[in-house]
Amino acid sequence: QKAQIGVTGLAVMGRNLARNFARHGHTVAVHNRSYSRTKELVEEFGHEGTFLPAESAEDFVASLERPRRVVIMVKAGAPTDAVIDEFAPLLEEGDMLIDAGNAHYADTRRREAALRERGLHFVGTGVSGGEEGALHGPSIMPGGSKESYEALGPLLEDISAKVDGVPCCVHVGPDGAGHFVKMVHNGIEYADMQLIAEAYDLLRRAGGHEPAEIAEIFRGWNEGRLGSYLIEITAEVLSHVDAATGKPFVDVVVDAAEQKGTGRWTVQSALDLGVPVSGIAEAVFARALSGGTDVRKAAVEAGLPGPSPTGGEADLKDAVEQALFASKIVAYAQGFQQIQAASAEYGWDIDPGATARIWRAGCIIRAKFLNHITEAYQRNPQLPTLLVDDYFLAAVSGAQDAWRRVVALAATQGIPAPGFSSALAYYDGLRAERLPAALVQGQRDFFGAHTYERVDRDGKFHTLWAAEGRAEVAS
Ligand code: 6PG
Repeated sequence: QKAQIGVTGLAVMGRNLARNFARHGHTVAVHNRSYSRTKELVEEFGHEGTFLPAESAEDFVASLERPRRVVIMVKAGAPTDAVIDEFAPLLEEGDMLIDAGNAHYADTRRREAALRERGLHFVGTGVSGGEEGALHGPSIMPGGSKESYEALGPLLEDISAKVDGVPCCVHVGPDGAGHFVKMVHNGIEYADMQLIAEAYDLLRRAGGHEPAEIAEIFRGWNEGRLGSYLIEITAEVLSHVDAATGKPFVDVVVDAAEQKGTGRWTVQSALDLGVPVSGIAEAVFARALSGGTDVRKAAVEAGLPGPSPTGGEADLKDAVEQALFASKIVAYAQGFQQIQAASAEYGWDIDPGATARIWRAGCIIRAKFLNHITEAYQRNPQLPTLLVDDYFLAAVSGAQDAWRRVVALAATQGIPAPGFSSALAYYDGLRAERLPAALVQGQRDFFGAHTYERVDRDGKFHTLWAAEGRAEVAS
């Protein structure tokens, strides 16, 4: 008996993916650097399906039917390269190595090109949904060649989350496209989490609500247009009480947010692509600020003054809901713009509507909201930004007065809301008929003769700033 698919790297994500394949009736070869983990998996979960445990890489490869499908689930970076180096020499033309970790898309592009030369398919695959998702149905974002998707796609679709029977898995595009889209997914995840955290902070500090009350508010929101996994789990976290102290759990956790780095990668890539993903960037920087404990301590000790209290907001709860929704729209609009820019840059031909579709279930940012994104791109596949789609335009215009009041309130009360306020600044920036960027161009021309374009004539111009009369010359 041969296995349809193999999984190497049996920490919890790999183990759960292997179990998911087995539970769907596929024979799964399993392998791990230390055999004890492989044995454990088969002992504990062998009854769930058919596993072929292998002690050596050679036995593992030999137990797979051709073309071989080898899922690698190890840490991104050097460990992934080590596993590739171990397995590639054992594989034959047409076999597939599927990297299901959170790899950087540039690494995936490099690995794909190198393995293609050797006649192997390398499929960088984004997998979202954490441990539970891996077991019960993640959202899956495979890159790599079309040909590899033909042999691999049906298996991945089988184990993915479903919405009304539609799998949350699609061939995103060639080489690194899958990992790129997963990276932006994580960037959006950071932005979403930051916005939710700001909503909580405002409700607590400006609204005077206790965490348990805010949990209830979030439960209510979860029934409406904000309905999403992240809102749902936030309510759970906020209502949790620490057993040791009897205090709200959120009050006993150190307020320094960590990160493994995918949000930072998203912003680094956006800087290279020149796409303003300010919502994601603010979220990454907000984590960095929270973690800069020495600087924070110094600022608190120096007593950096805050504002004198001013008036509040009549219906803070509703206003914060509006601000959260509008800011979320901006963050997603920015993330999708980044995906489209990368798709153009790398020739990936990514379908943004399909991307939203496979995020509707299984992944961390799953939400009702994503249906509207799919629909927006169905209405207009060339949509320059989600903000100009009818649905989102109406949503933001309905929310904007409250959004502005919330940002103003945060500023006047001294409550940091970088996500809400930068989203609003981005929105107003896009809306503006004229931006002060014209002045920046003038400054650049003044000190560096960097030239500018004119609104009324084609060409590049320079003003002779130092000369009398400041004549303008074409350049
Ligand atoms: C997912 C998550 C997953 C992981 C993040 C957490 O889609 O399942 O995004 O990939 O939980 O890497 O990221 P940070 O540790 O950077 O917050």
